[in-house]
Amino acid sequence: MKAIELIGLEKSYRVNVKALCDLNLSVEKGTLFGFVGPNGAGKSTTIKILAGLAKKDKGEVRLFGNEISSTAYEYKRDVGFVLETPYYIDKLTSREYLNFAAAMYGIPPKEAAARVDELLAFLDLEEKKKEMIESFSAGMKKKVSLAAAVIHQPRLLILDEPLEGIDPTSAKQIKDMLRRIVNKGESVFMSSHNLDTVEKLCDEVAIINKGKLVFQSRTEDIRKKIKDEVSQETYQSLEEIFIDVVSKDGERKEKKKLSWL
Ligand SMILES: Nc1ncnc2c1ncn2[C@@H]1O[C@H](COP(=O)(O)OP(=O)(O)OP(=O)(O)O)[C@@H](O)[C@H]1O
Ligand SMILES: [Mg+2]
Repeated sequence: MKAIELIGLEKSYRVNVKALCDLNLSVEKGTLFGFVGPNGAGKSTTIKILAGLAKKDKGEVRLFGNEISSTAYEYKRDVGFVLETPYYIDKLTSREYLNFAAAMYGIPPKEAAARVDELLAFLDLEEKKKEMIESFSAGMKKKVSLAAAVIHQPRLLILDEPLEGIDPTSAKQIKDMLRRIVNKGESVFMSSHNLDTVEKLCDEVAIINKGKLVFQSRTEDIRKKIKDEVSQETYQSLEEIFIDVVSKDGERKEKKKLSWL
């Protein structure tokens, strides 16, 4: 079964800003899926459409085989989101906000309190549990968003750069948590600019460029070194593949330089 299916997805912000242009992508259930691409490629736009926060112009979005319309919201019970700009209510403490999130998902108060405590400890947020979220650092705010995304044990996690700004100790904890979630049969779709993390952590990776899918592979195959059938070149890493598939023709092998260096 496919957890996510995007078919011919199109989105323009203005007449001349085509963020997504015929994007086709499938994410199998039970996969930890990495979604990478240059700045402005359309990753956050895709994630905002999945979260119902941006309206697609054309195409279909299916989650677990069901088409999602822009006005649907029931599906969000089964999905957890971390968005590019973290969402939280900054006049609440992390505990208050997470309790609120748990209540919105209908988790009974006692169970919610236990999960909140566990999440605050797990993400090293206990020290600041009495402070309002507005006083948190960027990484701490991201952790609060992540805690809210997992609190209802969703079948699918859709995460926009979830590890960005997170310190190495917590990042390791979160990566282990994502792996455990997937090992239980749930699905994770995450964007990232950290190709090493994606290559090591994810089961599958897709590269998007200018709103289109330009590459998709099992990371296991990348680790086994993929041979490009056209150029007969053997790629050594996801980084090499990325730079190759997103660079403009003619610029492929030339490195950009600064005139004063
Ligand atoms: N609110 C907006 N109004 C106008 N244009 C937008 C808006 N949001 C995104 N865009 C444009 O849509 C395109 C895709 O942007 P998007 O944020 O989806 O990229 P991204 O892949 O998430 O990039 P990054 O890696 O920098 O986060 C870009 O050209 C961007 O300028
Ligand atoms: Mg983005």
